Amino acid sequence: MNKSLLNSLYSAEDFKDTGYKLIDLLSDHIQNTTTGKNESTIRWNEPEKELNFWKNFLENGDEKDFFKEILNRTTHIHHPKYMGHQVAPTAPLTALTGMLSSILNNGMAVYEMGMSSNAIERIVTEKLCEKIGYDQHASGFLTSGGTLANLTALLSARKAKVEHDVWNEGSTESLGIMVCEEAHYCVDRAAKIMGLGEKGIIKVPSDENFAMDTDKMEACYKKAQSQGINIFAIVGSAPSTATGAHDNLEDIQKFAHKNNLWFHVDGAHGGAAIFSKKYKRLLKGIEDADSVVIDGHKMLFMPAITTALLFKENNNSRHTFSLRADYLMDAPEEDEWFNSGKKTFECTKNMMAIHWYIVLKLYGEEVFDEFITRQYDLAKDFAETISHEPNFELATEPMSNILCFRYIDDKLTLQELNMLNQSIRQQLLEEGEFYVVQTKLNGKHYLRTTLMNPFTTLEHLKLLLTNIKSKAEKLLIRKSN
Ligand SMILES: Cc1ncc(COP(=O)(O)O)c(C=O)c1O
Repeated sequence: MNKSLLNSLYSAEDFKDTGYKLIDLLSDHIQNTTTGKNESTIRWNEPEKELNFWKNFLENGDEKDFFKEILNRTTHIHHPKYMGHQVAPTAPLTALTGMLSSILNNGMAVYEMGMSSNAIERIVTEKLCEKIGYDQHASGFLTSGGTLANLTALLSARKAKVEHDVWNEGSTESLGIMVCEEAHYCVDRAAKIMGLGEKGIIKVPSDENFAMDTDKMEACYKKAQSQGINIFAIVGSAPSTATGAHDNLEDIQKFAHKNNLWFHVDGAHGGAAIFSKKYKRLLKGIEDADSVVIDGHKMLFMPAITTALLFKENNNSRHTFSLRADYLMDAPEEDEWFNSGKKTFECTKNMMAIHWYIVLKLYGEEVFDEFITRQYDLAKDFAETISHEPNFELATEPMSNILCFRYIDDKLTLQELNMLNQSIRQQLLEEGEFYVVQTKLNGKHYLRTTLMNPFTTLEHLKLLLTNIKSKAEKLLIRKSN
């Protein structure tokens, strides 16, 4: 590479010039999406066509159009008609902290490479521990996503509860964890990564509301024990992903205590309700969990990806990954909160704590309370509206801001209804005004909404129902002709 290219790559002037243009574009984007001025949430394109577009752009596109094209070709989470996956419409402020992290690139594993961010991370995680209801023995850290945090928590559980040192010596014993069949797939994946195999993930059946049927825990446990499986942990979902149903954490905690199991709460989505005065009750029992996961990039306005993993006992977070890396850590066995790489799966990670900190500093924790309470209330209002609509059916009453429903018509068979709801969802996607997703529960195809956006109102949701009704009627007329 010649010198002039490198000079241009690092040109502060170019950075400023392009940066200002991007900020202008993004602030227009925020304005036009949050107010719903932009008509679409998504401009759907087939994967092959999208691939060809970007191949062609690399050769022939004008770089001035790059940012604009990205905006045109992404899903607009800030739009009030976005109600799909559990992704935060980021607080614009946190895009700026994201930029700060990207430029400074302080990887944080060791204190010298992240002095402020290690200190800030401690303050943020202490705040989260306090909100959970933990005492001064607790501690935590931030890591790259709920998937990784759940894996890390289960590794800590194994270290704490299994007598021999599996991390260093491996294991010939059959080990297992228990979790509701409705839990996020990453728990299953974590178990497989840990070598527990299919038999090592004991799925407790769900009840009629898609939460763990805690009456069945005992039988599942006994059966696994009789098969020679040493169960060391149980996971409660707060809530589970598909329906937003909260497991009864108090029941699970009592069961864990009785059987000396590690009690882990996957609160990736709804753990944020520790901030809601009204909905914190859903998390009763969380204060007794050995570990808790909360995603900042779901219900707390943060950009992907930032997840808190909190431990009731600091000691348990220290020994998960015992290693020697003499070039990085002087004293691997010492508890040095400021060398965060000792506790995290990652070596390099971004300065994710600064997003949390700046929101807390400028808006206080009240902003989390306001948001979570509003979104959960809205889901209840939406459910109430659906219950008065003869052509719609709820999968279950929402416990959080996740709500599944389907179009129904008693003249149609289950298979026809499934196809109808699937076609409706496909049409919604291709039309691009509303973004909703879908799931299958007990063989029935449902439309799934997660009300992530503080600008979504009941009026938007009523418009969605009208839109779906009209699509269903047209599809049914087409079918009968
Ligand atoms: C309950 C639950 N746990 C874990 C995850 C995975 O989190 P992440 O996407 O941050 O890896 C999700 C994602 O939707 C989730 O809903």
